[in-house]
Amino acid sequence: MAATVQYDASGAFAAEMDACDPLAIFRERFHIPRAPDGSDAVYLCGHSLGLQPRNVREYIEQELHDWEKLAVEAHFRGRNPWMPYHRLLTESMAALVGARPIEVVMMNSLTVNLHLMMVSFYRPTAQRFKIVVEGDVFPSDRYAVKSQLRYHGFDPQHALVRLTPRPGETTIRQEDIEALLEREGPSIALVMLGGVNYATGQLFDMPAITRAGHAQGCVVAFDLAHAAGNAPVQLHDWDVDFAVWCSYKYLNGGPGCVAGCFVHERHARAWELPRFAGWWGHEEETRFRMGPDFHPAPGAEGWQLSNPPILSMASLRASLDIFTNAGMDRLREKSISLTGYLEFLLNQQASSKFSIITPREAERRGAQLSIRIANGGRSIVERLNAEGILCDWREPDILRAAPAPLYNTYSDVHRFAERFAAMVR
Ligand SMILES: Cc1ncc(COP(=O)(O)O)c(C=O)c1O
Repeated sequence: MAATVQYDASGAFAAEMDACDPLAIFRERFHIPRAPDGSDAVYLCGHSLGLQPRNVREYIEQELHDWEKLAVEAHFRGRNPWMPYHRLLTESMAALVGARPIEVVMMNSLTVNLHLMMVSFYRPTAQRFKIVVEGDVFPSDRYAVKSQLRYHGFDPQHALVRLTPRPGETTIRQEDIEALLEREGPSIALVMLGGVNYATGQLFDMPAITRAGHAQGCVVAFDLAHAAGNAPVQLHDWDVDFAVWCSYKYLNGGPGCVAGCFVHERHARAWELPRFAGWWGHEEETRFRMGPDFHPAPGAEGWQLSNPPILSMASLRASLDIFTNAGMDRLREKSISLTGYLEFLLNQQASSKFSIITPREAERRGAQLSIRIANGGRSIVERLNAEGILCDWREPDILRAAPAPLYNTYSDVHRFAERFAAMVR
């Protein structure tokens, strides 16, 4: 789509693109916030919190109904019995991250899952103990990783390896990642990168990084917070060891919604790995014998701790049903086109006042563009937001805008670019 369409900066072009967009119908399946003038807001914050699917209320009400009418019995007799409720999410979630059902479970929240995974898969020795992250890794991941290093008695100053762009560049080169792994591989225990970096929007070459890490004997993992539901991911085929993600961004699960966890099938029966245990990770057949010893279930489910949050899962289920209908391939195709259009419009403004720091190549980014603004960027974002054009600001100088293909339009992108250009001028 992106390769064949000749973009044009007129509003009429945006309207035409919307008129022939085969995914346009999906916008109606979301609540679009209102701008102060009563029109639909331009919502470009799907990288932060996705919009509410209209069907969420119905899905949650079903569970409230069963709770009201059946109470504890709903675990077995509810319309969607709560005991195996989490499995209603597994197939569609696994499809979105390219996993087999045994490899995926929805549980806890992202940072909790990251810790649980590191308990099992960060097994440092005196020779091999380093963890590689992006230099500007999301703070929660940095805190989690540093605390794990300290927990094992290592000094993050020495044991935390940060990948950074070359001087004068904004994103990390693949060749630099591979050179680092080549150079320091034998001392690296874990490579843990974002699939898409939260600040720059860079989409990493996950299969190549996994290959390079494995060639050095490292465990390779990804935080897919900004990649799940946004970019194509094939965790099983790429042979990734583990991955974690949240579901409130592109996956539209709602604030604080239950998070995802992937453990490669290779590790499904790795009983020798240490793990933090809770009763819900116990093998299902014997869980309710309430025995004294923990016998983990095979696969990702064996890392569960607690009985799951049904209302949160109901809301995610509503959203995943929409994803299944729309199809990730078609969404990605539209996403490439929409984000390409945003880039095209911004590039019409020759300006030294801002620059796009996200990679130019479609295969190196998802929906988000990050715009570095030399001066006064925060006030631009505040003024845009006050008009109902919602994007966000990350210190010290980055505006993030992400057209989400499920609910954003070409006209949204046109309106944002027009108002942004006027404010920058
Ligand atoms: C890349 C990344 N990692 C971790 C987190 C933290 O997620 P949570 O608060 O759900 O643990 C976020 C939240 O935005 C994130 O973007």
